[in-house]
Amino acid sequence: MSASESAETRASERAAVVADAMDDIAKIDAHGREHGGVDRAGIARIKERLLELARHEHLFPNEDFPPPAGERGSHSYRLAQSDDGTLALYVQSVGEGTSAPPHEHLTWAVIVGMRGQELNRFYDCCAGEGEPHVEREALVERGTGVAMLGHDVHSIHIEGASTNFHCYGLAMENMTGRRYWNAEEGQWRVFADSSSIIEARPGYPATAAA
Ligand SMILES: [Fe+2]
Repeated sequence: MSASESAETRASERAAVVADAMDDIAKIDAHGREHGGVDRAGIARIKERLLELARHEHLFPNEDFPPPAGERGSHSYRLAQSDDGTLALYVQSVGEGTSAPPHEHLTWAVIVGMRGQELNRFYDCCAGEGEPHVEREALVERGTGVAMLGHDVHSIHIEGASTNFHCYGLAMENMTGRRYWNAEEGQWRVFADSSSIIEARPGYPATAAA
């Protein structure tokens, strides 16, 4: 099989497993919304479903999801998104490490590991309530994940390369007004989301990293 044939086969296999996973996750999400919002049991089920998807790691190689070249930071590849923008799945690809200060999402968020290590720190308070203090840590790597509700506060710390799934109850471009802890200023600030989202859904024109 030639390299291009194998990339095409991989893309179609990937589209199928992502669609299956998103169908299941959409059902969990919809069930939660019908009952006042997705709860901790719901995000635990979403995490399990994404861990199952991550077992197809060979369908998500760096070749298809390259990280920023030679610099810190991440690229977020949009793998799937609901028509109304309330559900989205990304591959987060990091090459030289990255970090994010303590922040909230204002929707549920699930991160599952494939390659590398993403240290997550969780904090004892909600955004807007003074200086956050670390309550616990969890390492996201192959076979593990973390799940958060909208007001949970976490920070991420990655050294070197990593590739993970990030799944949210809202598309990233629709996450407005969420806050992060600005340690230099000693106060909570609203995120000006600077993440670069790269289109990676089948059938959509590819976009380059910003
Ligand atoms: Fe986050």
